[in-house]
Amino acid sequence: MSQPTSDQLQIFLDIATEAAMTAGAILQTYWGKLDGVEEKGRPGDLVTVADKEAEAAIVKVLGRHLPHHAILAEESGQRGDQKSEYLWAIDPLDGTTNYAHQYPIAATSVGLLVNGIPQVGVIYNPFHNELFRAAKGLGATCNRRPIQVSGTSNLHQSLLVTGFAYDRHQTPDNNYAEFCHLTHLTQGVRRSGSASLDLASVAYGRLDGYWERGISPWDITAGVVLVQEAGGTVTAYDGSPLVLKSGRILATNGQIHNQLSQELLQTPPLSSWT
Ligand code: IPD
Ligand code: CA
Ligand code: CA
Repeated sequence: MSQPTSDQLQIFLDIATEAAMTAGAILQTYWGKLDGVEEKGRPGDLVTVADKEAEAAIVKVLGRHLPHHAILAEESGQRGDQKSEYLWAIDPLDGTTNYAHQYPIAATSVGLLVNGIPQVGVIYNPFHNELFRAAKGLGATCNRRPIQVSGTSNLHQSLLVTGFAYDRHQTPDNNYAEFCHLTHLTQGVRRSGSASLDLASVAYGRLDGYWERGISPWDITAGVVLVQEAGGTVTAYDGSPLVLKSGRILATNGQIHNQLSQELLQTPPLSSWT
């Protein structure tokens, strides 16, 4: 097992940037011009021609530069050597529901796991022209300017964000109770509809914390690197190390991390609000 050098990470970061920007151009091409939107199975889980074409473009860029790396892509699954130390986790369009409604909170997310650890992340929102980039040890930027997490130290003064997975109609573990509880305790909880941009907003210091359940590696790999490189903390709900496949993530500016973790673990049942 070898850790890539800073120079190698910089190369991977530039390749991820090329891939994300190529995909972002495709998202712009189809903006407001979708012929149809399919449901993938679960209610509300949408896919469009833009998702598919953007993903194909990312896979092409990565395959051209890094043919020995493996890929996990939302729409087409796994490809490449599954024994590779390098796995790209990509979401060609994070925020498909927003995109289909022409609500411009959507992004392409390209992340690299090295031996299972997120190390490179690029998130590009072409509608706001914001390019977020980070790599382990190299810092985090937005449009090439350094960014850092907020300095909010009190949960009551914080602005948070979360999301609701597509299985929310099928399980009582759907984050509704946590949403009510934290809405009551903070200055607010937003729901943007794009997990990658939620993490980018925490990295930027616009938001103080983010949590979600039922999330996939392609939604968060890039964003995890951004938050960590911007000085924030990313863990499981209880503060233990993040397990990507668990689908649960807590990402904050670090200062409110323990407070938010405690509140998530102590969330009262939804019936207490009715
Ligand atoms: C979704 C978004 C949303 C989150 C969902 C994700 P998609 O991704 O990131 O914010 O709450 O859990 O599945 O379907 O737009 O790529
Ligand atoms: Ca997604
Ligand atoms: Ca997606």
